Amino acid sequence: MSRLRIAVIGGGANSEHDVSVASAASVTAALDPSRYEVLCLTIGRDGVWWDAAGSAVGLGEVVSLLQGCAVVFPAVHGPRGEDGTLAALLDLAGVPYVGSGVRAGALGMDKWTTKLVAEAVGVRTAPGLLVTHTRSIPTDIALPVVVKPVAAGSSHGVTRVDRQDRLPDAIGAALALDDRALVESYISGREIDIAVLACADGRRIVSAPLEIVVADGLFDTARKYDGTADFRVPARLTPDEQTLLEQAALAIFDALGCAGAARIDFFLTDAGLVLNEVNTMPGMTAQSQVPRMFAARGLTYPELLDELVRAAMTAA
Ligand SMILES: Nc1ncnc2c1ncn2[C@@H]1O[C@H](COP(=O)(O)OP(=O)(O)O)[C@@H](O)[C@H]1O
Ligand SMILES: [Mg+2]
Repeated sequence: MSRLRIAVIGGGANSEHDVSVASAASVTAALDPSRYEVLCLTIGRDGVWWDAAGSAVGLGEVVSLLQGCAVVFPAVHGPRGEDGTLAALLDLAGVPYVGSGVRAGALGMDKWTTKLVAEAVGVRTAPGLLVTHTRSIPTDIALPVVVKPVAAGSSHGVTRVDRQDRLPDAIGAALALDDRALVESYISGREIDIAVLACADGRRIVSAPLEIVVADGLFDTARKYDGTADFRVPARLTPDEQTLLEQAALAIFDALGCAGAARIDFFLTDAGLVLNEVNTMPGMTAQSQVPRMFAARGLTYPELLDELVRAAMTAA
């Protein structure tokens, strides 16, 4: 039987470059070599593409290489990757790919539009204000707040602010990564994530929920990657909480028009669920949240990757 030629793309020209390199390496290592022939491509921090031999590849040649593959796995998080940019290139090149298309990627990467869509389908989000300039500091939002770039990831540029005089620096840090920042009410609650997988046969599988237990403060960049993150899978929820979480996750997944696997992050508060954000290309190492959340439902990491590839090829 001939092997399926698949391109795995990692890296990216954004602050999540290293995470994307790790996701792509893990995906590549887990694809069964008797069934898949993998072409590895890495996008540098400067946007230059590299092949596995370490040679730079021009974009025209990249397109030809991708068109020589049956399917592409873009394991690229963050702006100019997960935000629909890569999906657009692959659409134009006519190559099927794993994960969300242009629209869902762009809407999901943008925390402001995600809020608008979520509220429109009845899922609550943190009240927030959009700030586009370091001179326009809001004075009419109750503290504490969380300040973040509208489109970034890995908690880069995310700060909790408890004092009005700290707002300008926090907004400056967020605007250093994006031209829009969100100033959002601080939500006090448990941090619970859940993922949805759209299968090749049209079914959608909801993962086990995962709780991130953060002793104090935010789930910041250091805690995400230093191995100290306390993930509880499955998160302990009542049956009612579980049902509400699954319904909200599916509503968001469908409203954005996601494909592949998306991770949808919530706060569970005394007053119910509040959506935090949507990741249309979540971390994909074997140790990342989404593979662990599906493993807790009996779907192993290689099985999850197989299903993502099958779904991509069926959708094409
Ligand atoms: N409104 C909020 N209230 C409380 N904590 C928040 C809020 N927004 C973000 N956080 C905390 O900051 C972390 C990172 O913020 P998030 O919006 O998820 O950015 P990223 O896309 O970088 O992961 C979250 O995991 C959570 O711990
Ligand atoms: Mg997050």
